[in-house]
Amino acid sequence: MTISCAVYNGFSRGITAEKLSEMHRLSFQDSVEQVWTSAEISSLLLNPDTQVMTLWQEAQAIGFLMWRQAGEEAEILTLCILPARRGQGMGSQILQEFYLLAAKVKTEEIFLEVRENNAAAISLYEKNAFKAVGRRKNYYRDQDALIMKYIME
Ligand SMILES: CC(C)(COP(=O)(O)OP(=O)(O)OC[C@H]1O[C@@H](n2cnc3c(N)ncnc32)[C@H](O)[C@@H]1OP(=O)(O)O)[C@@H](O)C(=O)NCCC(=O)NCCS
Repeated sequence: MTISCAVYNGFSRGITAEKLSEMHRLSFQDSVEQVWTSAEISSLLLNPDTQVMTLWQEAQAIGFLMWRQAGEEAEILTLCILPARRGQGMGSQILQEFYLLAAKVKTEEIFLEVRENNAAAISLYEKNAFKAVGRRKNYYRDQDALIMKYIME
């Protein structure tokens, strides 16, 4: 089944820090991951190197990806899809859109950190050609983070 959706950059279509925070809360509600408040999101986005893309199905924003660009390196800070919209390829879709955007600014490598027991996210990243390249001990207080890297083709 093809699901029509689109990616928009930044705060287009009425997206606000409050809306992003709400999506973050809904997406991480089953995990002990810290939910980002709208103040934290606003503060992150004060840095002009930090940007966000939102994924839409018709009139509803269903997920977003936030990243920081540092020259030829990008770091994914968070990626989430609303629970009701999971398992339909949306996570892969926003990642693939991000790769296209990253290529336009001559990104060579994309990094991220993911909780070592976040099987869904690790599987999503591996499916989209990320490889585990390291580990940060107790990064999430109780658990290690896997460091994953994608080398742009
Ligand atoms: C991780 C997340 C973004 C995946 O979104 P999604 O739209 O369901 O992912 P997709 O449908 O594109 O799945 C792509 C692949 O990811 C893997 N995957 C996704 N959900 C999975 C699950 N629950 N268990 C195992 N693998 C899973 C599979 O390999 C899947 O490929 P397949 O459908 O061919 O089997 C979503 O579960 C989420 O928002 N989780 C909470 C937030 C989070 O943990 N973000 C990552 C922080 S680093």
